[in-house]
Amino acid sequence: MATGDTIIISGQNSLSADELAAALALKDACDAAERLDLKLGYGAAEPATATYPAVLLARAGQRLVGYCSLDGDATTAEMCGMVHPDWRRHRLGMRLFEAARASFKGAGGGQLFAVCEDGSASGRAFLRMLAAQRASSEHRMVWRGASLTPTALDDQSRAFIVARARPEDYQPLAAALARAFDHTEERLLADLTSASATATEQVYAARLDGAIIGGFRLSRMPDSTGIYAFGIDPAQQRKGWGRRMLARACALAQQNAENPEQRSNQRVTLEVDTDNAPATALYRASGFEIITTYGYYVFSPTLLATGLNLDVGDGADKG
Ligand SMILES: CC(C)(COP(=O)(O)OP(=O)(O)OC[C@H]1O[C@@H](n2cnc3c(N)ncnc32)[C@H](O)[C@@H]1OP(=O)(O)O)[C@@H](O)C(=O)NCCC(=O)NCCS
Repeated sequence: MATGDTIIISGQNSLSADELAAALALKDACDAAERLDLKLGYGAAEPATATYPAVLLARAGQRLVGYCSLDGDATTAEMCGMVHPDWRRHRLGMRLFEAARASFKGAGGGQLFAVCEDGSASGRAFLRMLAAQRASSEHRMVWRGASLTPTALDDQSRAFIVARARPEDYQPLAAALARAFDHTEERLLADLTSASATATEQVYAARLDGAIIGGFRLSRMPDSTGIYAFGIDPAQQRKGWGRRMLARACALAQQNAENPEQRSNQRVTLEVDTDNAPATALYRASGFEIITTYGYYVFSPTLLATGLNLDVGDGADKG
């Protein structure tokens, strides 16, 4: 790198097609350097109402050399950042962190998590320097398609139907998922309502003899479709409905690529808590494989409130 280059950091809610291509190319370079699968966001779900930037771009001239995403709502966000391998150890990561922290806190945000893969020696060292503490861990799993047999998909013997949720389904679906995840119904209802207003999100409900017993959300990302909030009401668990719902979710996710040419080979992923053995077993039995493990880290309240004292000294604009 040319160390004298001026770095400009700008915060944005969404990415142009060129910016998205540059962010994906930067991710490829960072993934390749340490054999990672970085968990980044690529813009706000609802740009019009976002209170802090969803992405921060660090440019040296025209070149994108660093990137940080803030993915969340008004109170909580997940942050993940990357710096091109040629530009590391020049405080760019710290400046991106500081710009993201200041934007989030300035917008009244409360809890900030950093996501870092276990395989990222650089990311873990960086978070150690920030004295971040690991709060939880999730496996990312990718579907290999192996166990999606015709029987799993075609068995019509019970009145088990998976279909796009309609507005009147949100309340019973939120109630079923609240029981499955031990979350509040209000929070799940808010999540479902916000997802239903987002072009890249689709909410599905599973019905048994007409009653909603579970559901999930499909989230279309540039390089894959994710299955999220996948849950079956505890009263209906261990009866095979989760396995069937997963088979449907995979088939739907595979068809969910934005670009028609990608359909049928769309990558299907999900994330599961590392201590959730029953769900992990179901996913494995249905053809999913663990490809990486993410740690979720928290920062001290003091660091979150006051930030890093950076002596940038090179004319950086920390918009
Ligand atoms: C993590 C990452 C963004 C850091 O970017 P960076 O611009 O190189 O980081 P900085 O120069 O601001 O580093 C600040 C400090 O973090 C620590 N650090 C960063 N990378 C390190 C490494 N590879 N080994 C040891 N310490 C490291 C050091 O204390 C460093 O200060 P120093 O260089 O004066 O010793 C970058 O390495 C990266 O893109 N890694 C892959 C993506 C990733 O894992 N992201 C998750 C981040 S939460």
